[in-house]
Amino acid sequence: MNQAVILAGGQGKRMKAPIPKPMFKVLGEPMLEWVLGACEEAKIPRICVITGYEAQQITDYLGDRCETAYQAERLGTGHAVMQAIPFLEQNTEGNTLVLCGDAPFIDSETIMNSLERHISEHNAVTVITANVENPFGYGRILRTDSGIAGIVEEKDATDAQRAIHEINSGCYWFRTQSLIGLLGKITNDNKQHEYYLTDTVAIAIDENMRTGAYCSGNPDVVLGANDRKGLLALNTAARMAVLRRHMDNGVGFTCTDGIIIERSVKIGAGTEILPGTILRGNTVIGENCTIGPNCVIENTEIGDNVSLNTVQAYDSRIDSGVKMGPYVHVRPNSHICSGAAIGDFVEIKNSEIGSGTMIAHLAYIGDSDVGRKVNIGCGCVTVNFDGVKKSRCEIGDHAFVGCNTNLIAPVKLGKECYTAAGATVTTDIPDYALAIDRGKLEIKEGYTLRKFAKLK
Ligand code: UD1
Ligand code: CA
Repeated sequence: MNQAVILAGGQGKRMKAPIPKPMFKVLGEPMLEWVLGACEEAKIPRICVITGYEAQQITDYLGDRCETAYQAERLGTGHAVMQAIPFLEQNTEGNTLVLCGDAPFIDSETIMNSLERHISEHNAVTVITANVENPFGYGRILRTDSGIAGIVEEKDATDAQRAIHEINSGCYWFRTQSLIGLLGKITNDNKQHEYYLTDTVAIAIDENMRTGAYCSGNPDVVLGANDRKGLLALNTAARMAVLRRHMDNGVGFTCTDGIIIERSVKIGAGTEILPGTILRGNTVIGENCTIGPNCVIENTEIGDNVSLNTVQAYDSRIDSGVKMGPYVHVRPNSHICSGAAIGDFVEIKNSEIGSGTMIAHLAYIGDSDVGRKVNIGCGCVTVNFDGVKKSRCEIGDHAFVGCNTNLIAPVKLGKECYTAAGATVTTDIPDYALAIDRGKLEIKEGYTLRKFAKLK
């Protein structure tokens, strides 16, 4: 059985935060998640993540998704893989992929194609390489006619070797039995006093084991970040790649300023995304919608022909033909049915809003079931919390809820009923009834004249 070891022990000092480097996010997901995802997509059944700096953050994130091994001191990439020896010894048949947890753009195609090469060439080790424009800082690949002659690190390279553009991605396939043997032979006898994983390649060559190099067609597989500027560059690369994919699918962008779309989001053709819009998680958007400017949409399913302007929506459903905004907040577990219109400064939480219902401005609807073609006037509030518990309101089809109505939950409004403006409703209202709750309006003539006469 094949397996993978992902190195994630490093700190990333220049990030200046107590977070393991592989946990820094690219397009909303930790870099480690990108690497794990590529392994899972390549159907690698066993994975062990090597933790070190702030290990708990990684083990908490992973839960029981895969195994982990702890590297108490950071003594180099070879030392990191040594921590996986107990994991490797549980399954010594097949091959082991070693990956860096801080190089997020490794892809399943590179993983699978390099494995194919590794197996067909009967290699003990196959280094995944890339040709890059600027090889500075990476290990250079030394080639012979028949295979590879070694890897030389930037610090140890001659000028001629530094001119080589084929570099070590830091990812490798090993025959598992060979890897265990080779790890036993590497030393820290170098300038850095580190155990270099790259030395396993030199030892394998020395011992006449078959070694090869697979040059990935995707040079981004090597990209990593050493500081915040590097992380921004990774985010920009990932962001633009996602936007290009959506454009190929017929999604429109007049201007991409401030538009961040996570990898998982799906968008239908003919939809236009306007600046300042952030789409996250398992958001699915239908066709011919206008989303933005300035929307934040997370884990929300949106139908076709929906228009959202300055809307924040979380864990909800918005059906076809809904118009919302500007300035609408849809909190989790809400369902806005087709053709509803929700205007400025409206908050909806854990509620169903029936189709064709209008909530034009300044309202709070929480824990409520609102029927079809209801009109909710300006300033209406569902008073869903009494300081101890939350209760629901139910509003029947075609009800007209007058401006500034307070619905003291739990309460039920029948179909086609009315509430007069300013009503505070504490009991259920039957179908077709009017609820009016109003003191007698008194007019005191000449009041102002008398008041100011006294003051003079
Ligand atoms: C390594 C390679 C280099 C290659 C480059 C690609 C070696 C000696 N060199 O260099 O040839 O071009 O990757 O990016 O391997 N890590 C641990 N524990 C440690 C040290 C590192 O878990 O003790 C992890 C880091 O978190 C990181 C990965 O191993 O995810 C790579 O380590 P890093 O120090 O970045 O290696 P490079 O010096 O960049
Ligand atoms: Ca590195």
